[in-house]
Amino acid sequence: MDAREMKIKAAAVALEHVEDGMRLGIGTGSTAEEFVRLLAEKVANGLKVECVPTSERTARLCVELGVPLKSLDELPQLDLTIDGADEVDGHLRLIKGGGGALLREKIVAAASARMIVIADESKVVDTLGRFPLPIEINPFGQVSTRIAVEKTAERLGLTGQMALRTSGDGLFMTDGGHLILDASFGRIPDAEALAIALNTIPGVVEHGLFIDLATLAIIAGPAGARVIDAKN
Ligand code: 5RP
Repeated sequence: MDAREMKIKAAAVALEHVEDGMRLGIGTGSTAEEFVRLLAEKVANGLKVECVPTSERTARLCVELGVPLKSLDELPQLDLTIDGADEVDGHLRLIKGGGGALLREKIVAAASARMIVIADESKVVDTLGRFPLPIEINPFGQVSTRIAVEKTAERLGLTGQMALRTSGDGLFMTDGGHLILDASFGRIPDAEALAIALNTIPGVVEHGLFIDLATLAIIAGPAGARVIDAKN
């Protein structure tokens, strides 16, 4: 199986959890997009679902493929969210935001009774932090916010390069009009403590540590798919 086939495999297993009449949150990224493609086939064959997208990019694909969309305000409580991840550990802690959609992804996941992560084996880690942690910050006072993030991380024993994400000639801008600071802390032994500490910094809008949100991960590898569930 090549990388794309593994993403499709994980998405196909996740699709088995989708039932008629469900209100779904739909993630962002290349793995989530494979899920949208498979879901669209089911919808074309009569499956009734209502979906809340986590990004403008996902919304565009859903519209193109005929997947019915609602806003989160129209459907404020969801049955299930299916989304990719940049990293997942054995306790279903995640790093997300590689695609820059972490704020909406977290709001949608938190509004869902269940969240299934779909990923390939390359995303599984013992300890989070190999992937630079995306931190969404308000453009106002971004230098002060960056200094505050550095000091907060240092207090937790974390150091490393931080860089504002770029896109083309300029800075990357999220759907909400914010910037992304990618923080290469390396191993994050206490992700819970870092998550709480980052949330206390005024200019931090949200961060990519997803803790106690995922209820199941479907991990596809060359030999097939396995699950990590919240009971592990
Ligand atoms: C977007 C995300 C994505 O879920 C994450 O980046 C994984 O993407 P991909 O499936 O393309 O590897 O968090 O903000």
